[in-house]
Amino acid sequence: MKRTHTCGDLRASDAGATVTLQGWVNRRRDLGGLVFLDLRDRYGLTQVVVEPDDAAAFAAADGVRNEYVVEVSGLVRERPESQRNDRLATGAVEVVAASLSVVAPARTPPFVIDAAAGAGDVNEELRLKYRYLDLRRPGALAPLLLRHRVTQAIWEYLSARGFVQVETPLLTLSTPEGARDYVVPARQKAGAFYALPQSPQLFKQLLMIAGVDRYFQIARCFRDEDLRADRQPDFTQLDMELSFVEEEDILSLNEGLMAHVVRAATGKSVPMPFPRLTYRDAMDRYGSDKPDVRFGFELLDVTAALRNSAFRGFAAAAEPDGAIKALLVPAAQAEPLSRKALAELEETAKRHGAKGLAWLKRTADGLGGPVAKFLSPEETAALQEIASAEGDTLLLVADVWKRACTALGAVRLRLPEVLGVQVPQAELAFLWVVDFPLLEQDEETGAWTYMHHPFTRPREADVARMESDPGSVLAHAYDLVLNGSEVGGGSLRIHRLDVQERMFKALGFTQEEAERRFGFFLEALAHGAPPHGGIAWGLDRLVMLLAGVASIRDTIAFPKNQRGADPLTGAPSTIDERQLRELGLAVVGAAEA
Ligand code: AMO
Ligand code: AMP
Repeated sequence: MKRTHTCGDLRASDAGATVTLQGWVNRRRDLGGLVFLDLRDRYGLTQVVVEPDDAAAFAAADGVRNEYVVEVSGLVRERPESQRNDRLATGAVEVVAASLSVVAPARTPPFVIDAAAGAGDVNEELRLKYRYLDLRRPGALAPLLLRHRVTQAIWEYLSARGFVQVETPLLTLSTPEGARDYVVPARQKAGAFYALPQSPQLFKQLLMIAGVDRYFQIARCFRDEDLRADRQPDFTQLDMELSFVEEEDILSLNEGLMAHVVRAATGKSVPMPFPRLTYRDAMDRYGSDKPDVRFGFELLDVTAALRNSAFRGFAAAAEPDGAIKALLVPAAQAEPLSRKALAELEETAKRHGAKGLAWLKRTADGLGGPVAKFLSPEETAALQEIASAEGDTLLLVADVWKRACTALGAVRLRLPEVLGVQVPQAELAFLWVVDFPLLEQDEETGAWTYMHHPFTRPREADVARMESDPGSVLAHAYDLVLNGSEVGGGSLRIHRLDVQERMFKALGFTQEEAERRFGFFLEALAHGAPPHGGIAWGLDRLVMLLAGVASIRDTIAFPKNQRGADPLTGAPSTIDERQLRELGLAVVGAAEA
């Protein structure tokens, strides 16, 4: 290796040494008689001075531009006190070039790559097209380095506890996790397709049946779904599965692992055990199955007080599953709730399925707001117990329980911004959501579908009601939540063939359909399966939250944009006629140019 040091190494104690550095020119400053080059690599920046008395080096420096790769040899010199840069680790020294050569010239980059500056307002599409230039900036690279520390810590912790890392196939059969599959045509069998796995779910269960006992994998998963800031079409899970365990074993192991990972990756400590909320409580109190508990404004239930209200907007409360949920904004914080702000919040509620958002404001002599006149004296009195001080404001949604909770939960999430309430950004509020229902009903078709996936174990005591009252059956399922984001989800699994068959039946599968799609798995279950369970963490999401970046794209070296395309390679792309023929395919709808 020609370089003796990286661009982040040199300190005052190195003064007097002769060194060789290689790196990119971060910035070139020509001060007439002197040329300064800031040399950059992954490790830092070092200032190089080229003085005119060294004619060859000076001539070379003259032709150098930003982003050229150069090699410099010379003497390390301590900078005079007044010229030190305390923001740079190498800021006490500079290298006086004795020789300088261009290793590779570079085109003018499409955006400024300055180690000290952030991405600024560089368009993301452009950053992704030139991701290899984007990643030269320390700020862009940092989430990848953090991600490496996270996976390293996972390997350490789980390996020390008997877990075995096993890779599972990428060209496989559909594994249902609620999204569409990406499929790959099989050349050997025209008209047949592999599916890319939505998760390694069935393979990890097969590994438990095989007796592997404790498995993990940093696993790539593929889901064709609408993309958002926290979703990618191919993403990564920490996937794990354990045999002969109960729910408690999995939760406590994961808390220990998470604390280890967070400490190793960020130095922060995480309080344990993590709080636990039942699904019912999470919905009731926060209007979400992934509550952000870093701020208050818990939802209240005023169904009983308004059950017989004459206001037709509240009629849902009289229905069997109806509810009226309320948010109390205390007078001291209610000032920003102008008509305009209230209208915006109502839009939020409506976007989440509510028919409206009613508001009531405590006044000197009762309750104000458009709905107030419809309330009976008893109803008014009951609400005044809650909105007890003048200026207190109530926001209300009446609907079926789940929609009332969800819509008001969405309004709750808007409150910090609307009211100017600080949410502690640095806090890591982990919690478990437990006791999920096994099944949920499709609002349109009324059909029952799995809430987690079809292999999740129902509570023993509830199995008897799977046919008679499917909605009341709880699952051994749990989600790991961090700051309002679902960073993991898992469950105990069905390990008995008869229960798995009942589950498929509850989901409306015919015997033939179950056999066709999951026959291989049903057969495996018949060969003696240990009780088992596991979880998968969304690794990209976790790194996003730990790194404090706004999108999971920032945690992935070469991510796709919001339309599922890769601006760098241009994927997805069309393929030529010959390839199509080989695969026995014909394209019907043409791809957009
Ligand atoms: P689940 O579907 O809940 O469970 O996925 C686990 C975690 O993966 C993350 N995640 C995603 N991250 C980025 N982009 C996506 N498109 C995406 N989809 C999901 C989430 C989620 O919590 N096989 C089960 C796990 C098990 O039961 O053990 C599974 O995949 O953070
Ligand atoms: P309307 O009588 O439909 O004009 O509604 C009067 C007020 O009640 C409006 O502010 C609506 O947003 C609100 N509202 C209507 N339906 C509901 C509902 N189901 N829950 C809460 N507020 C509602």
